[in-house]
Amino acid sequence: MQGIVALLDLDYFYAQCEMLRNPSLKGKPVAIVIKTVRENSGVIATSNYEARKLKIRSGMPILLAKKLSNEETIFIEADKPYYKEISEKVFEIVSMFCEKIEQVSIDEAYLDLANEKGFDGAEEKAKKIKEFLKGELGLTCSIGISVNKFLSKMASDENKPNGLTIIKQNEIDSFISNKKSSELPGLGPKASKLLHEKGVETISDLKTLSEMELVQLFGSAKGKQYYNFSRGIDERELKENREKKQISRMITLKKDTLNSEEILPSIKFLSEIVFKEIKKMQKSFKTTSLIIITNKFETLTKSHTSQTIVSTLDELNSITENLLKEFLSEAITPVRRIGVRVSSFEENYGYQKKLFDFK
Ligand code: TMP
Ligand code: CA
Repeated sequence: MQGIVALLDLDYFYAQCEMLRNPSLKGKPVAIVIKTVRENSGVIATSNYEARKLKIRSGMPILLAKKLSNEETIFIEADKPYYKEISEKVFEIVSMFCEKIEQVSIDEAYLDLANEKGFDGAEEKAKKIKEFLKGELGLTCSIGISVNKFLSKMASDENKPNGLTIIKQNEIDSFISNKKSSELPGLGPKASKLLHEKGVETISDLKTLSEMELVQLFGSAKGKQYYNFSRGIDERELKENREKKQISRMITLKKDTLNSEEILPSIKFLSEIVFKEIKKMQKSFKTTSLIIITNKFETLTKSHTSQTIVSTLDELNSITENLLKEFLSEAITPVRRIGVRVSSFEENYGYQKKLFDFK
């Protein structure tokens, strides 16, 4: 795949989630533990950067982590249902900014940014996503942007935490050539050892091996992949795998305002896009929300759930207009960005079912 792809990776995720619900943890070393059935046994799932300074890392047995810890260090048992809940909120927000998302783990997803205006547009979008995740949920992430999945993953690893790294076409060679081959995504310690035995340390070294040699070493799929990766090539497509539970679009107003006449045309514009999108998905919806971001970067939401599905654009326009009125009647801080979201989906089987459809 050759386009513009981003990899979004939430920083020290489980630990960040714990710090979110317990701000007194901030500044202290925090390690998240996954316990095993044996007493006093378990492994570190992740640790924040204060704990990483003490060399407490993912995959480490808890007994070793305890030896490395200081009196401030806090060990917390993993609460996966809670992390899943946060992850869901994160990717719901991300999907407001990007239509095509492939989630690859609880805290990582590829985003298709091919529709942005080149790398500058993609960078702007990534900044907005980061700003929104921080403002709305209080979370930081690292984003890498490049022309394919593997390079965007490498880019996201470059500046952690809270990084944003872009590798443009003409920067690929210089970016990857001096990296260690063990930094290639998916290349584990076993493969790394085999390559070391062949005198391969960097990605430049890896490039000296023929495709056939790599296939002999790692099998057809992996061998070909490493051959391509060392040349900056990745053929894997981005596969959308999140069920859409809402559709939303946002826009920045020409100027910060509390004037309905200056806001309404943007809302109508967004409603039309959202309405077209939902028709294309052959779904119907009952809930309409207006998302308002003030010039102080507060995010406010006004929602309305209709008794029956909203079936025309006029209906949607009238709902959003009422939500705006409701918002403006109590607002004091000017609006900077505005969004329209529809949710509570139902399958759209069409409004005129024919008799034979029921057989
Ligand atoms: P992160 O902490 O580096 O962001 O990794 C994402 C999450 O994946 C992390 O918070 C916990 C989980 N994880 C494990 O459970 N075990 C591991 O060995 C790693 C690397 C991550
Ligand atoms: Ca992560």
